[in-house]
Amino acid sequence: MKAVILVGGEGTRLRPLTCNMPKPVVPIVNRPFLEHTIDYLRQHHIEDIILALCYLPGPIQSYFGDGSGWGVRLTYVVESSPLGTAGAVKNVASHLEDTFFVLNGDVFADLDLTAMLAYHRGEKAKVSIALTPVDDPTIYGVVETATSGRVQRFVEKPSWDEVTTNMINAGTYILEPEVLEYIPARTHYMFEHGLFPLLVGRGEPVYGYPSDSYWIDIGTPEKYLELHHDLLSGRSARSLAGQTGGTATEEGCHIHPTAQVGREVIIGRNCTIARGAQVTGPSVLGQGCRIGEGAVLEGAVLWHNASLGAGVRARNCIIAANTEVGDHCSLMDNCVLGDNVVIGEGSQLGRGIRVWPGERLEPGTISR
Ligand code: GDD
Ligand code: MG
Repeated sequence: MKAVILVGGEGTRLRPLTCNMPKPVVPIVNRPFLEHTIDYLRQHHIEDIILALCYLPGPIQSYFGDGSGWGVRLTYVVESSPLGTAGAVKNVASHLEDTFFVLNGDVFADLDLTAMLAYHRGEKAKVSIALTPVDDPTIYGVVETATSGRVQRFVEKPSWDEVTTNMINAGTYILEPEVLEYIPARTHYMFEHGLFPLLVGRGEPVYGYPSDSYWIDIGTPEKYLELHHDLLSGRSARSLAGQTGGTATEEGCHIHPTAQVGREVIIGRNCTIARGAQVTGPSVLGQGCRIGEGAVLEGAVLWHNASLGAGVRARNCIIAANTEVGDHCSLMDNCVLGDNVVIGEGSQLGRGIRVWPGERLEPGTISR
């Protein structure tokens, strides 16, 4: 069984995290996002994986190589300009002979791929689309199905008055190779606006496979943070090798005896947590992070080598790699600091403030 993972998007909504790094390699609990997906595919005996790349392909290829380190075979196909979701699959058609999976590369889900395949075969579907319930369907593709499971309508990013169900396209498909014939070659073409509505309109057997297991698209910083919180608090069934519930500290860390580290905290290698600091979960520290004296961190995700000064307060925020936050700064919910940012001491960043990679804020900056 082969799978194509769509990993060519620019990840615009996840900026500044994706300014220098493609979305598939942003760390999730200190491991690149795609590593979790590859492990999951392998658990379902899908070991032949084709990565359809476009934006910043280099970091993905150099990290995963031929995939043997993960027990899979990886094939990379790089688009010179974005071909869209379906165009990207057409572009790798020479590697696809049999029934295959397609996965959006930014979804973390507990979907049972093996059961979905059995369903697809049982219904003799040409396309099966995994479905998941959400509160706000307008930011996804809405999929209407008959009681038989057959898809009757597919509307991408509908307005509220077009929403007839809360079941949306979960971004995992099973396709029969013959449907590739409907996709124009070397042309930007989408499953969502093109192929799916076309096949449904022609009465082809397109089925929806509903699942209420854990599902999230990490397309925005808020969702990125939510995935961390969910994984650490055990909301996903995906096993993260002892990384759920308790505290895990890797080797080489120095945690001062007066520092308090709560539950649901993961601390990467060689971190330092100074006197009187508090780290409350769910939080993740990448390797080599430094937390200053009396700093208070709550629900935060830090990438490697982030350094927070004395008395810093940071709540529910994301701090990317090699960032320095000066003494007594405060960062409120959903602040996102890109790589190599320097925040001068005593600065206050209000909710949702984003700081671009390499930016330096003067001491005492107040940004709301
Ligand atoms: N290779 C390649 N080329 N990949 C692409 C391209 C392209 O031109 N455009 C997008 N992708 C990849 C992205 O990297 C991502 O992994 C996936 O396709 C989906 O793109 P997003 O930009 O994340 O789309 P979305 O989240 O707004 O909507 C899609 O996903 C929803 C579920 O998360 C749609 O499929 C919706 O219908 C769906 O509900
Ligand atoms: Mg997405």
